[in-house]
Amino acid sequence: MKQIQIAIDGPAAAGKSTIAKQTAELLGYTYVDTGAMYRAITYKALGLNIDLQDGTKLTELLKETSIELKPSPKGQLVFLDQVEVTEEIRSKEVTANVSVVAAHANLREEMVKRQIEMGKHGGVVMDGRDIGTHVLTNAELKIFMSASVEERANRRFLENQKRGIHTNLEELMHDIALRDKLDSEREASPLVKAKDAIFIDTTSLTIKEVSNKIMQLAQERMV
Ligand code: CDP
Ligand code: CDP
Repeated sequence: MKQIQIAIDGPAAAGKSTIAKQTAELLGYTYVDTGAMYRAITYKALGLNIDLQDGTKLTELLKETSIELKPSPKGQLVFLDQVEVTEEIRSKEVTANVSVVAAHANLREEMVKRQIEMGKHGGVVMDGRDIGTHVLTNAELKIFMSASVEERANRRFLENQKRGIHTNLEELMHDIALRDKLDSEREASPLVKAKDAIFIDTTSLTIKEVSNKIMQLAQERMV
């Protein structure tokens, strides 16, 4: 069986990481959460009080920063300069600032270089915003998934509730819509569907339904 590359892109809470993780597990592939990498550098920059508008400074900082993604029975763990920051990078503050950091072209160039290296041997499922368009440009399977903003905000709301975090649905919807806008309208590799990506609207699909669909598409491409 061929060890293929699978690229999954789409806006926040479309279900990318849930599906990417499951698909990687089922196929015995490596899962790469590129959003976690942008979150990790944002977390470090916030801690150092660096001006998030300064792309040159942020890129210099990234170049001297180690970001590792390691699988564990609890899920993927994120290490920033050898320290685990899996939970910290999901904070409200990081979420509110990550799209500003991710908009810098020079910083993205360094991130993409690292991600191409991570995926070069195949047997990988990578999710993000520009995977099909700039990272795994020759991936055998490219998926662009989305869902209505109401459904996506509701999913995040339920997810937070499960983790014991109280959030406001209206506020979540506003934050998601704003991040979608920043990610889609930025000049450097905006969030767009690659021409050869398959579009999946997950609004009324269960996780299982989406996962089955992607496994079928992957298996067709592995022979
Ligand atoms: O999990 P969620 O969809 O909320 O976000 P994420 O995947 O953790 O990504 C966080 C942010 O990082 C996105 O809103 C983008 O601004 C940025 N990002 C990006 O620009 N390119 C990627 N390949 C992945 C994430
Ligand atoms: O990675 P991304 O931000 O695109 O989304 P996610 O973190 O995978 O999914 C957000 C939430 O939606 C999770 O709690 C999933 O369990 C849930 N979800 C869902 O209810 N139905 C789907 N078809 C996909 C995800």
